[in-house]
Amino acid sequence: MKICFLGCGNIAQAIIDGLLKSGISSADIACIERNQQRIEALTKQNLQIIELENLATMNFDLIVLAVKPKDALSAEQTIFKMVPRTAILTVVAGLNIEKYSQPNEIIRAMPNTACAFGKGVTAIYAANQNSAGFNAAKKLFNKVGHVVTLQDEGEMHRFTSIIGSGQAFLFQVLNTYLQELEKITTSDQAATKSMFLDFITSLGDSFSQEENFERLINKIKSPGGTTQAGLESLKMNNLDKVLQDAFQAAEDRSIEISNEQ
Ligand SMILES: NC(=O)c1ccc[n+]([C@@H]2O[C@H](COP(=O)([O-])OP(=O)(O)OC[C@H]3O[C@@H](n4cnc5c(N)ncnc54)[C@H](OP(=O)(O)O)[C@@H]3O)[C@@H](O)[C@H]2O)c1
Repeated sequence: MKICFLGCGNIAQAIIDGLLKSGISSADIACIERNQQRIEALTKQNLQIIELENLATMNFDLIVLAVKPKDALSAEQTIFKMVPRTAILTVVAGLNIEKYSQPNEIIRAMPNTACAFGKGVTAIYAANQNSAGFNAAKKLFNKVGHVVTLQDEGEMHRFTSIIGSGQAFLFQVLNTYLQELEKITTSDQAATKSMFLDFITSLGDSFSQEENFERLINKIKSPGGTTQAGLESLKMNNLDKVLQDAFQAAEDRSIEISNEQ
């Protein structure tokens, strides 16, 4: 499968890293990018940098559009003019397929940066889910993690919130934990980092042993103990609602962005 990325910032880089880790050759990935620093980083990975003007002279199974929403529509129009028969896969958040010049040819996906480690979750939608392009797009994201196929594009707003933004909310929570850990450790920074890494990996390990958070919590807390006191404080401060509100705010913003374009 030959893939070209138009826009190679954070999310494209995560997908590219995951693809390379999955065994795809760097010779099968091309990049169109205008940011010089990004170009240097991509070149170091032996990726081919091409100019948009040369797109028509090359054959790709998929062109992945990974630019900010403000740049997306003009980029799609240019791609379509140059290679009208190549499927375009957009990862741009909040931009409905109907906004593009060729909505029937567009495949829309919402991945997250965990694709870099082959652990991504990607929601994917297209009006025509039987096309070669849609199958190629599913194959691509299956190489870098899990794929959820949506039957209704409207569901993408919720997925954008939970898959795209959700990671950042949990990073924010973990950052508070790290700051507290740093206050109590006398070790140097590297030792604290290693301690923290083991701690967050162990959260995944615990879940793979016992897939029920209530039971996991019960293994830690005892009646009247310290954990219970902390959990009661979280409940009193409505942690569930705080997080649910964050997911809702992200979903609302996704809907707003789609109306702004
Ligand atoms: N980051 C995530 O976790 C994530 C997750 C899911 C979806 N998304 C979506 O993915 C898209 C990209 O996000 P990002 O965070 O990866 O953005 P980003 O880091 O800003 O990357 C976009 C890159 O594309 C370049 N670019 C824009 N237009 C171009 C053009 N016409 N030709 C060549 N290069 C061009 C930009 O250059 P300049 O810097 O010069 O503009 C920038 O380097 C967004 O629409 C976002 O909604 C992001």
